[in-house]
Amino acid sequence: MRSLINILDLSTGEIDELIAVAEDIIADPAKYSEACRGKKLATLFFEPSTRTRLSFEAAMYELGGNVLSVSSGASSSAAKGESVADTAKTVSCYADIIAMRHPKEGAPYVASVNASIPVINAGDGGHNHPTQTLADLLTIHREKGRFENLTVGLCGDLKFGRTVHSLIEAMSRYEGVRFVLISPEELKVPSYVKKDVLARNGIPYVQTEDMESVMPELDILYMTRVQRERFFNEEDYLRLKDSYILTPKKLQNARTDLSIMHPLPRVNEISVAIDDDPRACYFKQVLNGKYMRMALILKLLKEAGR
Ligand code: NCD
Repeated sequence: MRSLINILDLSTGEIDELIAVAEDIIADPAKYSEACRGKKLATLFFEPSTRTRLSFEAAMYELGGNVLSVSSGASSSAAKGESVADTAKTVSCYADIIAMRHPKEGAPYVASVNASIPVINAGDGGHNHPTQTLADLLTIHREKGRFENLTVGLCGDLKFGRTVHSLIEAMSRYEGVRFVLISPEELKVPSYVKKDVLARNGIPYVQTEDMESVMPELDILYMTRVQRERFFNEEDYLRLKDSYILTPKKLQNARTDLSIMHPLPRVNEISVAIDDDPRACYFKQVLNGKYMRMALILKLLKEAGR
């Protein structure tokens, strides 16, 4: 059974196909409005979410399908001690496809090997978030018209930020991509990402704490929130939370065609004064995420023969 656990489960060719389908949905949504009639998506969210869960649900409704939803661990049998494996087997009896978010790294993978329907990882702990990456990739494609030859700045919590890890994996497959990793010492990209993804593929990168000095080089600036829920103590969070706040002044030396991205939710990392800057793409990412999730649901249901 084909699932989506890691962004590398999709080839670059398949990503191109998903983008083409998403563009077709954008151009002619009516054509897809009955595509999933009678099908059910189960959204199993054991961690807070606004965008990802609602975007999966909106995606399924716009395909004419239905949604079954668990919106917190506390309201499900997980609170009684049910295993992820048993939950996956159970939900396979009710639904055609699952989107799962879980605080434990690897939980959606465990679900996928126990379910008899496709499972989509909607975020597992500080590990991966492949469907946010699909949203990011459609945004980059629409803004830049290419994935190759881009300098991608990633800023903020690069240690716990799962969207960062998945985006690095995805972008590492394109020619001429270079990363500028901007974070405090304590929140650097984990060494497994540097070793297994960047070094293994010979991808050039620099690490810095200083956002302004690298600003002129960037084609993309991907800001992230400091992931409070993954910290072991509140003191460290409070010390690090406002490490980077993007303001109009800090953009003075930025390229005129910079794309400013953020997976959201934003806390303080981007001043609201930037929202009207034509380079701000973060609300476009939200919309693009819905279209890519529609394309993904269609693909996985088709491959599962459902
Ligand atoms: C991200 C996540 O859940 O990892 N949010 C999202 O799904 N768009 C980023 C975050 O929570 O900071």
